[in-house]
Amino acid sequence: MSGSILGDLPVLPLAESFALTAAYKTDSSPNKVNLGQGVYRDKWCQPWVLPSVRAAEELLHKERVNHEYLAIQGDESFNQKARELLFDSRISQQKNIRTVQTIAGTGANYLAASFCARHIRPKKVFISNPTWDNHYEIWKTAGPEITQQLYPYYNSNERCLDFGGMVKELEKGEENDVVVLHPCAHNPTGHDPTRDQWKSIAEVIARRRLFVVFDSAYQGFASGDPDADAWAIRHFYSIFFSDVSVSQKPLPAGMIVCQSFSKNFGLYGERIGALHLVSPPSVSTQGAFTHLTQLARAQISCPSLFGARIVNTILSDNSLRQTWEQDVKTMALRIRDVRSALRSELERIETKGDWSHIERQIGMFSYTGLSRQQVEMLKNQYHIYMLGNGRMSMSGLNEENVAYVAQAIKDVVEC
Ligand code: LMR
Repeated sequence: MSGSILGDLPVLPLAESFALTAAYKTDSSPNKVNLGQGVYRDKWCQPWVLPSVRAAEELLHKERVNHEYLAIQGDESFNQKARELLFDSRISQQKNIRTVQTIAGTGANYLAASFCARHIRPKKVFISNPTWDNHYEIWKTAGPEITQQLYPYYNSNERCLDFGGMVKELEKGEENDVVVLHPCAHNPTGHDPTRDQWKSIAEVIARRRLFVVFDSAYQGFASGDPDADAWAIRHFYSIFFSDVSVSQKPLPAGMIVCQSFSKNFGLYGERIGALHLVSPPSVSTQGAFTHLTQLARAQISCPSLFGARIVNTILSDNSLRQTWEQDVKTMALRIRDVRSALRSELERIETKGDWSHIERQIGMFSYTGLSRQQVEMLKNQYHIYMLGNGRMSMSGLNEENVAYVAQAIKDVVEC
């Protein structure tokens, strides 16, 4: 019998958040609680189709649209609206920003990584430790020759951002090295830099002439206000990329912003996103944009239509846009409420330890501080599912299950 390389490939585990969802679905316990994957759930812990999205679907249904191919770079009207949402209507008109529609945030990150690997040629990519696990996988796949340098992000003793550690590590970057940043609602820690800290981070990045990749997956989830959550991105644009007269100052090597509509429009399965390429003043983006488009052609040929139509319909209509802004607030506020409910319950039952960080953290997740062993116990003994690093997706909690989860946490912490 002849051997085959296929037979030599080891069996790999499924990506953790998807493995947890699969395990949760087959769990027959009536007590099961899903705090694993980063998806919003309503107060009944069910998927929520945003009212703005429902209304847009109905409008599109009446229009009896066709299903032709989009252009390789996507729908121009969607791209413009996506750019405005992220950068504001003034910045988004600037000629040094070009947009390609992508297969959600993952597709944008993959396109960014493959573009950087091919054209920016960094020695290193600086990725936060911890981060969304797919960042490691994407850069490993798209740029296997690029060293992944983890920058400290979280101080687990103080339960806060390790700002000093982060900046110290970024100081080691060399020209054209890439740094991946979360502009808001950091996944998984729920801790963001303050505005002053962002200013210092920007200064280091410019001085070291690094190339910035922002991964914007949670715009709206940090504060409930999409404009406030885009502050870091707009700040970078304004100080580095808006004005030719600043070109005497040190500038980053360039900037890409990856934008996902999975979470803030609840369009998880529709795979809608965008990549925005920003070039330094006085540099033409046109050549770079054609290279991006060529990569997109090879990776996806052209992007998906339905979700782009939904986002475009909502962002093009004042009334639907207001409904969407309210929808985002609804999600952000519910998560804030369950943070408070979990912390209060843990304190009411006198669970050992300090649980105030649950309310200090922002966005979709709490980085609980539970150990891998405690997380395993929660799954095996209590049917409560969350990531092994202790990340809890907060909207899986509601009035019905919060006491059960708090008691289970107390049990595993104190056993
Ligand atoms: C998560 O962080 O759980 C989500 O973004 C789903 C994923 O792709 O891992």
